[in-house]
Amino acid sequence: MKDLSLKNRIVMAPMCMYSCPEQDGKITNWNLTHYTTRAVGQVGLVIVEASAVSPEGRISMEDLGIWDDEQIAGLTKLTKLVHEHGAKISIQLAHAGRKSRIDGSIKAPSVIPFSYKSKTPQEMTIQQIEDTVASFKKSAYWAFFAAKQLGVNLEGPIQYRRGMGLTFGLLKYIRFFLKKSKQPQSSIYRTEAFYNLKY
Ligand SMILES: Cc1cc2nc3c(=O)[nH]c(=O)nc-3n(C[C@H](O)[C@H](O)[C@H](O)COP(=O)(O)O)c2cc1C
Repeated sequence: MKDLSLKNRIVMAPMCMYSCPEQDGKITNWNLTHYTTRAVGQVGLVIVEASAVSPEGRISMEDLGIWDDEQIAGLTKLTKLVHEHGAKISIQLAHAGRKSRIDGSIKAPSVIPFSYKSKTPQEMTIQQIEDTVASFKKSAYWAFFAAKQLGVNLEGPIQYRRGMGLTFGLLKYIRFFLKKSKQPQSSIYRTEAFYNLKY
């Protein structure tokens, strides 16, 4: 959060609303009303719901998204409205992994379904994981441009391992993450550096 000051300690947790009926991930009037109303109600920090870093990273087809520059105008408008009422705003960047319920196939670090109701995911290749990391980076970039005070909270497929055991695919993913985190030239490192410099 660095130097960000909030007017109080009331923080609105990110809560998926699945309210983009056009399935384009863009902010709707409903979203504007929903979040601005909380700012009017004196929440100190609004955290915008999990917003997908790629179309296949959505939980549902109606999720908010931040994978395309066409989605930025709505986020900027939302930021302005929330700021007008004295609140700060943040966004949760997300990839649903095996929690996804979108049409078609889903991708995750392992082939283990999230629950008995969930789809069986396709195991991501290292290249697909790298592409996902790059998507997070690009979305962070869009978030930065949506508003300078837009914070970023990372959420990815790795979070959904809880209680499900480690599979070979997931171990590969963790190793990849650790390896990438230690390498100064890695995209994760660069993403962090990007925040330090720009945020
Ligand atoms: C309707 C609903 C949608 C939620 N969507 C998200 C989400 O988008 N991202 C997330 O990390 N958590 C989500 N959660 C979890 C909440 O952010 C929060 O962590 C959870 O309600 C527990 O809150 P508590 O720790 O204050 O008890 C959601 C919860 C609810 C009730």
